[in-house]
Amino acid sequence: MNNPIEQRAREEELVERVVRSFDACPDPRLRQLMAGLVRHLHAYIREVGLTEQEWGQAIDFLTRCGHITDEKRQEFILLSDVLGASMQTITVNHQAYGDATEATVLGPFFVEGSPEVPLGGDISGGAPGEPCWVEGTVTDTGGKPLAGALIEVWEADEDGRYDVQYDDDRTAARGHLYADDQGRYSFWAVTPTPYPVPHDGPVGQLLAATGRSPMRASHLHFMVSHRGCRRLITHIFVRGDELLDSDTVFGVRESLVKGFERQPAGTSTPDGRVVDGTWSKVQFDIVLETGSKRLA
Ligand code: BEZ
Ligand code: FE
Repeated sequence: MNNPIEQRAREEELVERVVRSFDACPDPRLRQLMAGLVRHLHAYIREVGLTEQEWGQAIDFLTRCGHITDEKRQEFILLSDVLGASMQTITVNHQAYGDATEATVLGPFFVEGSPEVPLGGDISGGAPGEPCWVEGTVTDTGGKPLAGALIEVWEADEDGRYDVQYDDDRTAARGHLYADDQGRYSFWAVTPTPYPVPHDGPVGQLLAATGRSPMRASHLHFMVSHRGCRRLITHIFVRGDELLDSDTVFGVRESLVKGFERQPAGTSTPDGRVVDGTWSKVQFDIVLETGSKRLA
Protein backbone atom coordinates (compact mmCIF):
# COMPACT_ATOMS: atom_id res chain seq x y z
CA MET A 1 0.00 0.00 0.00
CA ASN A 2 1.29 3.43 -0.96
CA ASN A 3 1.83 5.49 2.16
CA PRO A 4 2.45 9.14 1.13
CA ILE A 5 4.31 9.95 4.33
CA GLU A 6 6.70 7.04 3.84
CA GLN A 7 7.10 7.91 0.19
CA ARG A 8 8.05 11.51 1.08
CA ALA A 9 10.52 10.28 3.68
CA ARG A 10 12.15 7.98 1.10
CA GLU A 11 12.52 10.85 -1.36
CA GLU A 12 13.93 13.21 1.28
CA GLU A 13 16.31 10.58 2.60
CA LEU A 14 17.73 10.19 -0.90
CA VAL A 15 18.26 13.95 -1.27
CA GLU A 16 20.13 14.09 2.03
CA ARG A 17 22.23 11.03 1.17
CA VAL A 18 23.33 12.59 -2.13
CA VAL A 19 24.09 15.95 -0.48
CA ARG A 20 26.16 14.16 2.20
CA SER A 21 28.15 12.37 -0.50
CA PHE A 22 29.91 15.72 -1.07
CA ASP A 23 30.69 16.30 2.61
CA ALA A 24 34.34 15.38 2.21
CA CYS A 25 34.84 17.70 -0.76
CA PRO A 26 38.03 19.61 0.09
CA ASP A 27 36.88 22.77 -1.72
CA PRO A 28 34.10 24.40 0.37
CA ARG A 29 32.77 26.42 -2.57
CA LEU A 30 32.49 23.33 -4.77
CA ARG A 31 30.76 21.53 -1.90
CA GLN A 32 28.25 24.39 -1.63
CA LEU A 33 27.66 24.45 -5.39
CA MET A 34 27.06 20.69 -5.55
CA ALA A 35 24.79 20.59 -2.49
CA GLY A 36 22.67 23.44 -3.88
CA LEU A 37 22.51 21.82 -7.30
CA VAL A 38 21.40 18.48 -5.85
CA ARG A 39 18.72 20.07 -3.64
CA HIS A 40 17.25 22.16 -6.47
CA LEU A 41 17.46 19.35 -9.03
CA HIS A 42 15.72 16.87 -6.75
CA ALA A 43 13.12 19.49 -5.77
CA TYR A 44 12.37 20.00 -9.48
CA ILE A 45 12.08 16.26 -10.17
CA ARG A 46 9.75 15.82 -7.21
CA GLU A 47 7.68 18.94 -7.89
CA VAL A 48 6.89 18.11 -11.53
CA GLY A 49 6.82 14.34 -10.93
CA LEU A 50 9.33 13.78 -13.72
CA THR A 51 8.52 10.60 -15.64
CA GLU A 52 11.24 8.19 -16.76
CA GLN A 53 10.34 8.94 -20.37
CA GLU A 54 10.76 12.69 -19.78
CA TRP A 55 14.09 12.04 -18.05
CA GLY A 56 15.18 10.12 -21.17
CA GLN A 57 14.08 12.98 -23.43
CA ALA A 58 16.04 15.45 -21.32
CA ILE A 59 19.17 13.30 -21.59
CA ASP A 60 18.65 13.02 -25.35
CA PHE A 61 18.22 16.81 -25.61
CA LEU A 62 21.46 17.48 -23.70
CA THR A 63 23.25 14.88 -25.81
CA ARG A 64 22.13 16.66 -28.98
CA CYS A 65 23.30 20.00 -27.50
CA GLY A 66 26.70 18.37 -27.01
CA HIS A 67 26.84 16.94 -30.52
CA ILE A 68 26.12 20.27 -32.23
CA THR A 69 28.61 22.16 -30.05
CA ASP A 70 32.06 22.84 -31.50
CA GLU A 71 34.53 25.72 -31.41
CA LYS A 72 32.13 27.92 -33.41
CA ARG A 73 28.77 26.82 -32.03
CA GLN A 74 28.01 26.68 -28.30
CA GLU A 75 24.55 25.22 -27.81
CA PHE A 76 24.86 25.05 -24.00
CA ILE A 77 25.44 28.81 -23.72
CA LEU A 78 22.49 29.33 -26.06
CA LEU A 79 20.40 27.10 -23.79
CA SER A 80 21.52 29.11 -20.77
CA ASP A 81 20.62 32.30 -22.67
CA VAL A 82 17.07 31.27 -23.63
CA LEU A 83 16.42 29.98 -20.09
CA GLY A 84 17.42 33.38 -18.70
CA ALA A 85 20.27 31.74 -16.75
CA SER A 86 22.95 33.86 -18.46
CA MET A 87 21.05 37.05 -17.68
CA GLN A 88 20.38 35.95 -14.10
CA THR A 89 24.10 35.28 -13.58
CA ILE A 90 24.85 38.78 -14.89
CA THR A 91 22.14 40.25 -12.67
CA VAL A 92 23.55 38.56 -9.57
CA ASN A 93 27.11 39.63 -10.38
CA HIS A 94 26.43 43.21 -11.49
CA GLN A 95 24.36 44.73 -8.75
CA ALA A 96 23.51 48.42 -9.23
CA TYR A 97 26.65 50.47 -8.59
CA GLY A 98 26.24 54.25 -8.69
CA ASP A 99 25.23 55.32 -12.16
CA ALA A 100 27.32 52.61 -13.84
CA THR A 101 25.96 51.44 -17.19
CA GLU A 102 24.14 48.13 -16.89
CA ALA A 103 25.57 44.93 -18.33
CA THR A 104 23.87 42.40 -20.53
CA VAL A 105 24.69 39.13 -22.33
CA LEU A 106 27.87 38.74 -24.39
CA GLY A 107 26.32 36.48 -27.04
CA PRO A 108 28.31 34.16 -29.29
CA PHE A 109 29.46 36.63 -31.94
CA PHE A 110 32.25 38.59 -30.24
CA VAL A 111 35.61 38.08 -31.96
CA GLU A 112 38.95 39.18 -30.48
CA GLY A 113 41.13 41.39 -32.63
CA SER A 114 38.55 43.38 -34.60
CA PRO A 115 39.86 46.12 -36.91
CA GLU A 116 40.77 49.46 -35.34
CA VAL A 117 38.88 52.46 -36.66
CA PRO A 118 39.73 56.09 -35.92
CA LEU A 119 37.30 58.30 -33.99
CA GLY A 120 34.47 59.04 -36.42
CA GLY A 121 35.50 56.01 -38.52
CA ASP A 122 33.20 53.37 -39.97
CA ILE A 123 32.98 49.90 -38.42
CA SER A 124 30.52 48.59 -41.01
CA GLY A 125 33.25 47.24 -43.29
CA GLY A 126 30.75 47.11 -46.15
CA ALA A 127 28.00 45.28 -44.21
CA PRO A 128 24.61 46.11 -45.73
CA GLY A 129 22.45 48.45 -43.68
CA GLU A 130 21.33 52.00 -43.08
CA PRO A 131 24.24 54.13 -41.80
CA CYS A 132 24.06 54.95 -38.11
CA TRP A 133 26.14 57.60 -36.32
CA VAL A 134 26.96 56.55 -32.75
CA GLU A 135 28.48 59.00 -30.28
CA GLY A 136 28.92 59.44 -26.56
CA THR A 137 31.34 59.62 -23.69
CA VAL A 138 33.08 57.15 -21.43
CA THR A 139 33.39 58.21 -17.80
CA ASP A 140 33.85 56.43 -14.49
CA THR A 141 31.32 56.36 -11.67
CA GLY A 142 33.12 59.37 -10.17
CA GLY A 143 32.35 61.34 -13.36
CA LYS A 144 35.97 61.38 -14.60
CA PRO A 145 36.34 61.14 -18.40
CA LEU A 146 38.19 57.94 -19.31
CA ALA A 147 40.66 59.07 -21.95
CA GLY A 148 41.84 56.17 -24.08
CA ALA A 149 39.02 53.80 -23.04
CA LEU A 150 38.89 50.84 -25.42
CA ILE A 151 35.49 50.54 -27.09
CA GLU A 152 34.83 47.29 -28.98
CA VAL A 153 31.60 47.11 -30.98
CA TRP A 154 29.91 44.46 -33.09
CA GLU A 155 26.51 43.92 -34.63
CA ALA A 156 24.46 42.04 -37.22
CA ASP A 157 23.93 43.53 -40.69
CA GLU A 158 20.50 44.55 -41.96
CA ASP A 159 19.82 40.94 -42.99
CA GLY A 160 20.34 39.87 -39.38
CA ARG A 161 23.69 38.16 -40.00
CA TYR A 162 27.01 38.63 -38.23
CA ASP A 163 30.14 38.46 -40.38
CA VAL A 164 31.06 35.10 -38.79
CA GLN A 165 27.86 33.74 -40.35
CA TYR A 166 28.89 34.80 -43.88
CA ASP A 167 30.08 32.10 -46.28
CA ASP A 168 33.49 33.77 -46.66
CA ASP A 169 35.91 35.15 -44.01
CA ARG A 170 35.09 38.84 -44.51
CA THR A 171 35.21 41.02 -41.39
CA ALA A 172 32.27 43.41 -41.24
CA ALA A 173 30.17 45.29 -38.70
CA ARG A 174 32.77 45.03 -35.97
CA GLY A 175 35.67 47.17 -34.86
CA HIS A 176 37.38 48.92 -31.99
CA LEU A 177 38.37 52.48 -31.20
CA TYR A 178 39.71 54.54 -28.31
CA ALA A 179 38.00 57.44 -26.54
CA ASP A 180 39.71 60.84 -26.92
CA ASP A 181 41.33 62.79 -24.08
CA GLN A 182 37.92 63.98 -22.89
CA GLY A 183 36.45 60.47 -22.99
CA ARG A 184 34.46 61.16 -26.16
CA TYR A 185 33.95 58.69 -28.97
CA SER A 186 32.01 58.46 -32.22
CA PHE A 187 31.79 56.08 -35.14
CA TRP A 188 29.60 55.04 -38.04
CA ALA A 189 27.84 51.66 -37.86
CA VAL A 190 24.62 50.32 -39.35
CA THR A 191 21.22 50.84 -37.75
CA PRO A 192 20.50 47.63 -35.79
CA THR A 193 17.68 45.35 -36.96
CA PRO A 194 16.10 42.30 -35.26
CA TYR A 195 17.49 38.84 -35.94
CA PRO A 196 17.00 35.29 -34.63
CA VAL A 197 19.45 33.45 -32.39
CA PRO A 198 20.78 30.30 -34.09
CA HIS A 199 17.65 28.12 -34.08
CA ASP A 200 18.51 25.20 -36.35
CA GLY A 201 19.54 22.97 -33.42
CA PRO A 202 18.02 21.48 -30.26
CA VAL A 203 17.55 24.87 -28.59
CA GLY A 204 15.63 26.07 -31.65
CA GLN A 205 13.46 22.94 -31.40
CA LEU A 206 12.82 23.70 -27.74
CA LEU A 207 11.76 27.26 -28.62
CA ALA A 208 9.46 25.96 -31.37
CA ALA A 209 7.95 23.24 -29.15
CA THR A 210 7.20 25.81 -26.46
CA GLY A 211 5.75 28.39 -28.84
CA ARG A 212 8.59 30.87 -28.29
CA SER A 213 10.16 33.08 -30.91
CA PRO A 214 13.93 32.89 -31.55
CA MET A 215 14.06 36.66 -32.25
CA ARG A 216 16.29 39.11 -30.45
CA ALA A 217 15.40 42.78 -30.18
CA SER A 218 17.59 45.01 -32.42
CA HIS A 219 20.83 45.90 -30.69
CA LEU A 220 24.44 47.02 -30.99
CA HIS A 221 27.03 45.26 -28.81
CA PHE A 222 29.70 47.08 -26.76
CA MET A 223 32.64 45.88 -24.69
CA VAL A 224 34.32 48.81 -22.94
CA SER A 225 37.56 48.60 -20.95
CA HIS A 226 39.80 51.01 -19.08
CA ARG A 227 42.54 50.39 -16.55
CA GLY A 228 41.23 50.68 -12.99
CA CYS A 229 37.61 50.07 -14.00
CA ARG A 230 35.47 46.99 -14.30
CA ARG A 231 35.12 45.90 -17.92
CA LEU A 232 31.59 46.42 -19.23
CA ILE A 233 29.85 44.05 -21.65
CA THR A 234 26.55 45.43 -22.83
CA HIS A 235 24.39 46.42 -25.79
CA ILE A 236 22.08 49.26 -26.66
CA PHE A 237 18.57 48.60 -27.96
CA VAL A 238 16.39 50.58 -30.35
CA ARG A 239 13.57 52.52 -28.68
CA GLY A 240 10.25 51.56 -30.29
CA ASP A 241 11.37 48.08 -31.39
CA GLU A 242 8.35 45.82 -30.92
CA LEU A 243 10.58 42.95 -29.72
CA LEU A 244 11.85 44.80 -26.64
CA ASP A 245 9.43 42.90 -24.38
CA SER A 246 10.07 39.48 -25.91
CA ASP A 247 13.83 39.39 -26.50
CA THR A 248 14.46 35.65 -26.47
CA VAL A 249 17.54 35.88 -24.23
CA PHE A 250 15.97 38.37 -21.78
CA GLY A 251 18.82 40.81 -22.43
CA VAL A 252 16.85 44.07 -22.52
CA ARG A 253 17.19 46.56 -19.70
CA GLU A 254 15.23 49.78 -19.79
CA SER A 255 18.36 51.90 -19.22
CA LEU A 256 19.90 50.44 -22.38
CA VAL A 257 17.01 51.37 -24.68
CA LYS A 258 18.12 54.39 -26.73
CA GLY A 259 16.54 56.64 -29.31
CA PHE A 260 18.00 55.87 -32.73
CA GLU A 261 16.74 59.03 -34.46
CA ARG A 262 16.09 58.47 -38.14
CA GLN A 263 17.28 61.34 -40.33
CA PRO A 264 15.59 62.04 -43.67
CA ALA A 265 17.64 61.64 -46.84
CA GLY A 266 19.69 64.74 -47.51
CA THR A 267 20.13 65.71 -43.81
CA SER A 268 23.70 66.80 -43.22
CA THR A 269 25.79 64.41 -41.14
CA PRO A 270 27.90 65.23 -38.04
CA ASP A 271 31.19 64.73 -39.91
CA GLY A 272 30.13 65.91 -43.37
CA ARG A 273 29.95 62.39 -44.80
CA VAL A 274 27.65 62.20 -47.81
CA VAL A 275 25.00 59.56 -47.18
CA ASP A 276 22.77 58.27 -49.92
CA GLY A 277 19.33 57.98 -48.29
CA THR A 278 18.21 57.97 -44.67
CA TRP A 279 20.57 57.51 -41.74
CA SER A 280 20.15 57.39 -37.98
CA LYS A 281 21.99 58.70 -34.95
CA VAL A 282 22.18 57.62 -31.35
CA GLN A 283 23.91 58.86 -28.22
CA PHE A 284 25.24 56.42 -25.65
CA ASP A 285 27.11 57.76 -22.63
CA ILE A 286 28.94 54.93 -20.94
CA VAL A 287 29.81 54.83 -17.23
CA LEU A 288 32.30 52.23 -16.00
CA GLU A 289 32.48 51.04 -12.39
CA THR A 290 35.55 52.39 -10.66
CA GLY A 291 37.45 50.65 -7.91
CA SER A 292 39.53 47.55 -7.56
CA LYS A 293 37.08 45.78 -5.20
CA ARG A 294 34.68 45.04 -8.01
CA LEU A 295 37.04 44.62 -10.94
CA ALA A 296 36.12 41.70 -13.21
C1 BEZ B 1 23.60 37.99 -29.70
O1 BEZ B 1 23.18 39.03 -29.33
O2 BEZ B 1 24.40 38.08 -30.59
C2 BEZ B 1 23.16 36.71 -29.08
C3 BEZ B 1 23.03 36.64 -27.72
C4 BEZ B 1 22.66 35.44 -27.13
C5 BEZ B 1 22.40 34.32 -27.91
C6 BEZ B 1 22.53 34.41 -29.31
C7 BEZ B 1 22.90 35.60 -29.90
FE1 FE C 1 23.77 40.25 -31.03
